[in-house]
Amino acid sequence: MLLNASELSQTDMYKILIGSVAPRPIAWVGSRDTNGINNLAPFSFYNVFSSKPPIAGFSTIPRPDGRKKDTLHNVEQGRCFTLSCVSHSLVQQMSKSAATLEPEEDEFSYSGVTPAEAAHINAPFVKEALLVFECTLFDIIRLGEGPGSGNLILGEIQHIHIEDTLYTEGRIDFEKLDPVGRLAGNWYSTIRDKFELKRG
Ligand SMILES: Cc1cc2nc3c(=O)[nH]c(=O)nc-3n(C[C@H](O)[C@H](O)[C@H](O)COP(=O)(O)O)c2cc1C
Repeated sequence: MLLNASELSQTDMYKILIGSVAPRPIAWVGSRDTNGINNLAPFSFYNVFSSKPPIAGFSTIPRPDGRKKDTLHNVEQGRCFTLSCVSHSLVQQMSKSAATLEPEEDEFSYSGVTPAEAAHINAPFVKEALLVFECTLFDIIRLGEGPGSGNLILGEIQHIHIEDTLYTEGRIDFEKLDPVGRLAGNWYSTIRDKFELKRG
């Protein structure tokens, strides 16, 4: 079968993409609006792209009614955000925090996690998370318009909070971190079925 991307509907293209690029890491993004209201939401169009400068990026798609997601709005205004790692122990709370709440509602209390204050930027993060990046906005790249479009938000990582026991000899212990990945629909993955393969 050979599919021509330009002949696929936006929905079919979306389903192919999320089924093909899987598992995807999950950015659990903490931000704050100009009224001081905290916001927390997960985004699985997420990755890191360079280490000097250390750049992480995630993409927000428009809401079904076309409105911007609160996260995008807050990052445009505040130019900073936090990325909390979603360990398996936090997966229920992460899922709950994806609820579409009004801008004045705070997903931290709604999802049952504790907001902690970033050390160097004006944004909250998930206190229970084992690893957190504090980021300043590097760039926002608009990818199209309307349904299916994206807003690629690139952040420069300025500070990293790591649970002490996770970080030894310059390496992150990913077994202890126990991160969760997003597949498609309601499916997620862990890294508990990993294997080692020597290069070459
Ligand atoms: C695991 C997971 C991954 C998600 N990934 C994305 C994503 O990559 N982009 C996006 O726009 N929405 C994504 N969502 C949906 C947002 O989390 C949801 O729309 C949320 O309400 C946005 O919150 P906000 O309006 O406070 O920014 C995802 C939801 C879940 C549960």
